[in-house]
Amino acid sequence: MANLLCIGAGYVGGPTMAVIAQKCPEHRVVVADVDSAKIAAWQSDHLPIYEPGLKEVVLSCRGKNLFFSAEVERQIAEADIIFVSVNTPTKSFGQGAGKAADLQYWEKTARQILQHSRTPKIVVEKSTLPVRTAEAMERILHSNDRNLPFDVVSNPEFLSEGTAIHDMENPDRVLIGARDTPSGRKAMQAVVDIYAHWVPRERIITTSLWSSELSKLVANAFLAQRISSINSISALCEKTEADIQEIAHAIGLDSRIGPHFLNASVGFGGSCFKKDILNLVYLCEHYGLPEVARYWDQVVQMNEYQQARFHARMLSSMFNTVAGKRIALFGAAFKANTSDTRESPALNVCRALVEERAEVVLTDPYALDHARIDLAKDAPQVIFEPDPYRAAAKAHAIAVLTEWNLFAELDYRAIYQSMAKPAFIFDGRNILDHRRLFSMGFNVQAIGKPPLIHPAR
Ligand code: UDX
Ligand code: UDX
Repeated sequence: MANLLCIGAGYVGGPTMAVIAQKCPEHRVVVADVDSAKIAAWQSDHLPIYEPGLKEVVLSCRGKNLFFSAEVERQIAEADIIFVSVNTPTKSFGQGAGKAADLQYWEKTARQILQHSRTPKIVVEKSTLPVRTAEAMERILHSNDRNLPFDVVSNPEFLSEGTAIHDMENPDRVLIGARDTPSGRKAMQAVVDIYAHWVPRERIITTSLWSSELSKLVANAFLAQRISSINSISALCEKTEADIQEIAHAIGLDSRIGPHFLNASVGFGGSCFKKDILNLVYLCEHYGLPEVARYWDQVVQMNEYQQARFHARMLSSMFNTVAGKRIALFGAAFKANTSDTRESPALNVCRALVEERAEVVLTDPYALDHARIDLAKDAPQVIFEPDPYRAAAKAHAIAVLTEWNLFAELDYRAIYQSMAKPAFIFDGRNILDHRRLFSMGFNVQAIGKPPLIHPAR
């Protein structure tokens, strides 16, 4: 039996450790966080994050071998293996502001581990970090006069929000990086042994520390690059009457390209893609590789262009003014099946429309609480309406910004009746039946598709 601790009870730490606890009943798993309100929520019936299947996993082992605690320091003292999944946001100040990772929480956590450890520990990097962070961590941890040994292991998470539990239970691969030394190999094996409880051994990949750290940034950069690539072509489709979904299907059948991550959209969001690519860009600049830095920076720029293009198209379709017009935005979350609104393109579109003085009504099944906090400062006049039918009533336009199934299943005939005319619908996720909506009377604009506009009578 081992004592496993995770510091950081967020979107990564919570689901990851809940699955580990369920799969490894002989280990004691504690998830600790400085935020005591969040810990209280993890201990209650209202978990602090929405993730399909999470509650069932937590309920199956909470109080047995899964515990949540706000006493980070006491838990450090008792742990054998410490996973660290505190946040590493983009730095907002000083050198590297806007690009580099802000490692202050990581470093603070490393020092906290050092201060409260009385026995040897394995420290596992779960948070996404710049390559060679482990070196800095080792230096901090070894700056002790007690000769306490610490091993730093990199084990990046690849779980995607909305399917985090499924991804943890059936990972494409688990990546574990460590030093090629006797104690590094031993630490690596201890982490391998945890995952080997349920992951086939051939899917557990072991590499050097540096390859593991960098692989995480590169995986996210490649995924985001596919979205920016297809989004760039969606702009060309809108000029040429080609259809982006037909193109994605046609190219995705080439087994060298593959079908995933080819959905053109209003843009990618989430806590990871933009942050990790900017981090990669900063690293390339730091190592004197400006051409490589510019190459990856373009992925982020294309994503901002796609969002700007979306609201510019709304404005021009609606006779170049939305001032005073009610506009219903369907979706606040950065993707479906999550309550997370971090870097959500929906909120960027919302802000742009508020700036144009539209009366914006936002609806979302799970993300309105987060959206309310995010928009409190720069767009306090936004109306939050959980019912999409009420949100659309009297609106001049609807924009679908999150691909929730629920938005595809609404009674659009009833919605059309309740709206101001001419009624517009902008599908930023291509989830609606555009021809059907057009036949009901809507003017329809989707991503990378020819517009369906009724001629003036
Ligand atoms: C975060 C990063 O965004 C991601 O890049 C990384 O891979 C893993 O950590 P996430 O779990 O989504 O992902 O972040 P968040 O939900 O903000 O959770 C981080 C938690 O760490 C917060 O609950 C915060 O209170 C906690 N924390 C932060 C500490 O416990 N101690 C600290 O010193 C700082
Ligand atoms: C991502 C990675 O997928 C995951 O491996 C990593 O650990 C964390 O970052 P996540 O941000 O949770 O996960 O969601 P993901 O499914 O990757 O979607 C990111 C964004 O891209 C969302 O806004 C989504 O709507 C958008 N997207 C995704 C598209 O616009 N088109 C697509 O084809 C796929």
